[in-house]
Amino acid sequence: MTLPRTMKAARITRYGTPDAVVIEERPLPQPGPGEVLVQLRAAPVTAGDARVRSGKVPRGFGLLLRLAMGWSRPRNPPGWAFAGVDCATGRRVFGIAGLRGGAHAEYLAVKAAQALPLPEGLSFEEGAAFFFGGLTAAEYLIDKCALKAGDRLLVNGATGAVGSAALQIGRALGAQVTAVCSAANHGLARRLGADGVIDYRSQPVTGQFDVVLDVIGTLPAPQGLLAPGGRLGLISADLAATLAAAFRPRVFAGPSGEGLARMQRLIGLYTQGAYRPVVGESLPFAELPRAHAIAETFHKPGNLVVVMPA
Ligand SMILES: NC(=O)c1ccc[n+]([C@@H]2O[C@H](COP(=O)([O-])OP(=O)(O)OC[C@H]3O[C@@H](n4cnc5c(N)ncnc54)[C@H](OP(=O)(O)O)[C@@H]3O)[C@@H](O)[C@H]2O)c1
Repeated sequence: MTLPRTMKAARITRYGTPDAVVIEERPLPQPGPGEVLVQLRAAPVTAGDARVRSGKVPRGFGLLLRLAMGWSRPRNPPGWAFAGVDCATGRRVFGIAGLRGGAHAEYLAVKAAQALPLPEGLSFEEGAAFFFGGLTAAEYLIDKCALKAGDRLLVNGATGAVGSAALQIGRALGAQVTAVCSAANHGLARRLGADGVIDYRSQPVTGQFDVVLDVIGTLPAPQGLLAPGGRLGLISADLAATLAAAFRPRVFAGPSGEGLARMQRLIGLYTQGAYRPVVGESLPFAELPRAHAIAETFHKPGNLVVVMPA
């Protein structure tokens, strides 16, 4: 593959509105020892990207965000996950750039072990959408909430990146799944495995559940929805609720992990037919600021991806 000398890459100029995302001409990254250079073909623009760019995080986490990511703007370049082509071998690969970022660009240098083979049945867009949402849903349902066959599962925020994965994995594990989302997304929720649907705009969320996954953090009293012995996953908890969860049995909060073992497990779920990423919308990479504006509404179906030129 003949490589250009420069590429287009995104940078966040400040914590603020989507116009804080700019695309600039930059030198190509130079892969270090043990790294590969990937020509990126697609990358997700996630709720996490929108939160880091805007600085709007659940209550109590603002100071921690700035201490970890940068005081006046995020230090690292944006872009958490990727799908593309290994420039040396031509293989289709996908993976996670993580907090180091850099996947909102045309090329990315990553550790060779982080560029996993993209399964043949997945497009670049699906590869980009694969890990964000899927990893969180799998960890909360399987490791934290120990979901099992026959459990009644409630997913609040059911059709976005995390919820669309939780519905599928919940269904595959044999749970009876109830999805909370707006009426416009009820068809999608049912296709992904929901047995029952609730429109949060016109109906109260009631019932008794063995596992409640509050993905979007809007349930006013999620504990009241738990059956005896029920488990609660608070995926968007504020700092106080995150700290309190550490002292409460069967209540789980906090960031999910992204290690290789968890990535391989999710690929295994895909191979078994238990999970397939949902790509709601694909936009050209040049429209990255618009993608940020969509992501920060918290109403997108599945994952939103930007597509880089081949
Ligand atoms: N803890 C972690 O490690 C972790 C990891 C990933 C994400 N997160 C957090 O999880 C949250 C969701 O992320 P995501 O990527 O899935 O977001 P998303 O793709 O924007 O999806 C949001 C979902 O919430 C629904 N929704 C919006 N307002 C709602 C309300 N008032 N009541 C019930 N449902 C509502 C939307 O459905 P409609 O469009 O039909 O309204 C949509 O299904 C974000 O806060 C994100 O920061 C945390």
